Amino acid sequence: MVMMKKFAYVDALGLDTAEAYRLIVGCVVPRPIAWITTVDADGRVNAAPFSSYNYVATDPPMLAVNITSKGGVLKDTARNIRESREFVVNVADLATMEAMHASASEYPPDVSETDELNLELLPSTRVKPPRIAASPVQMECRLDQFIALGKGHNTLYIGEVVAFHLSTDVYDGQRVNSAAMNPIARLGGPYYAALGEIYNRPMLQRPPGGEGWIHQANPPIIKKD
Ligand SMILES: Cc1cc2nc3c(=O)[nH]c(=O)nc-3n(C[C@H](O)[C@H](O)[C@H](O)COP(=O)(O)O)c2cc1C
Repeated sequence: MVMMKKFAYVDALGLDTAEAYRLIVGCVVPRPIAWITTVDADGRVNAAPFSSYNYVATDPPMLAVNITSKGGVLKDTARNIRESREFVVNVADLATMEAMHASASEYPPDVSETDELNLELLPSTRVKPPRIAASPVQMECRLDQFIALGKGHNTLYIGEVVAFHLSTDVYDGQRVNSAAMNPIARLGGPYYAALGEIYNRPMLQRPPGGEGWIHQANPPIIKKD
């Protein structure tokens, strides 16, 4: 016999900002982290992590990130994206977790997180913001559009990826090896998670470019380090 779960009911209409935040970030897990680099009008490099983030289109590839504003004041990342229409999404992995986390501290706009944290940077190809060298994958983006959501605390920034930089440790020229990338994800509260067990199932539809993913009854163990 299946044990019935008990459910708490929460009416989502009329939740205050803090309750709504706690519930949504607890329920939508694990979230990938976009460690975003931008530049301001004086060329100062800003870096900060954002987990309200995902890919939202494939052709062309597009990413979206939701950045909140505090008391109507834009975060440095949001201001820089609006002004320059460019940003770089650096993938945060286990090795960069501490630096990524530290870059979320509230630095004044005239202080560069990448200087403060001694982050090595690499030039980008199509956009001005540089890439974080330690990150295994960096995606150069041009702002496509931004959309104010809900009561106005949230803005969704949608960017088109105009260049990928993939470490050869994680990319064989065709596919990205998730296990080798070792991404770090955000959970609710102060928690992060690494990848756990990886499961292999046959693809039921064939996505464009997905032909090479072959189902193997006994998949090779992918080393995570
Ligand atoms: C793991 C992590 C994920 C975060 N995700 C978001 C997010 O999705 N949206 C957001 O507005 N702030 C998010 N933050 C908070 C920002 O990183 C923080 O406000 C930062 O100071 C913004 O920096 P900036 O003013 O230099 O842009 C997150 C923080 C951490 C540590």
